[in-house]
Amino acid sequence: MKIVIFLGAPGVGKGTLAAVLAKRTGAQHVSTGAMLREAVQRKTPAGVSAKGYMDRGELVPDGVLVEMMDEFLAETPQGAMLFFDGFPRTVPQAEALDALARKFKSAVSCVICLEAAESVILDRLGGRRVCPKCGAGFHVRNVPPKQAGVCDACQSPLVIRSDDRPETIKNRLAVYAEQTAPLVAWYERQGVLKRIDASPETEIIADAVAHIVRHG
Ligand code: AP5
Ligand code: MG
Repeated sequence: MKIVIFLGAPGVGKGTLAAVLAKRTGAQHVSTGAMLREAVQRKTPAGVSAKGYMDRGELVPDGVLVEMMDEFLAETPQGAMLFFDGFPRTVPQAEALDALARKFKSAVSCVICLEAAESVILDRLGGRRVCPKCGAGFHVRNVPPKQAGVCDACQSPLVIRSDDRPETIKNRLAVYAEQTAPLVAWYERQGVLKRIDASPETEIIADAVAHIVRHG
């Protein structure tokens, strides 16, 4: 198993980029946000405990995430290449991931750190629309669906994510700065961090990152 981590603020484009690159490379896109949203929808025990945290824009407790990823990795074939989008998000999660990687004879091969100005991030979150059925993501101006308000892939009506309200966005960005941003220095010290300018369009970023993922 080879693990590539996509790190960066809410709305910087982790999910969009990871989905495009997974399609290009055959890697598996692993979004903990999407896994948790599905758990909330299905009202599983993890989903029931996660809902309040997600609605407030706070992080779900580390223990819930580590158990979820342990179960996920136990079911993943040895040869898989994984794109982690949204995990780890705290130093204790990163330490737990090191232990899980040892347990499953895997390793973090590189950490793609996506960077963009706050104005770019706020514009991306403000215009985001998502498909509640298949999870596809769009943006009203940057990535518009072919028909306004309708998913290209499954024709379902698009919605605004419940944590994309202005007050929740503010909180998610503050939580990122306080609890997740320290991972940048943490992975830099380990010599696996690659900083990427996330402001261009996705295909341009994908070209740069595909090169790193192949050779990094
Ligand atoms: P999660 O779903 O991971 O949310 P997030 O980190 O807040 O990130 P987003 O999904 O909002 O942004 P993104 O970077 O993926 O951007 P996107 O590609 O959509 O987590 C949700 C919640 O779950 C958390 O708040 C927390 O409660 C919980 N959680 C998840 N993981 C956890 C963990 N490990 N520990 C604890 N709790 C956890 O792009 C945004 C918009 O911009 C889109 O509209 C897109 O179309 C557009 N766009 C993207 N790229 C470009 C581009 N290059 N040019 C123009 N537009 C672009
Ligand atoms: Mg995302």
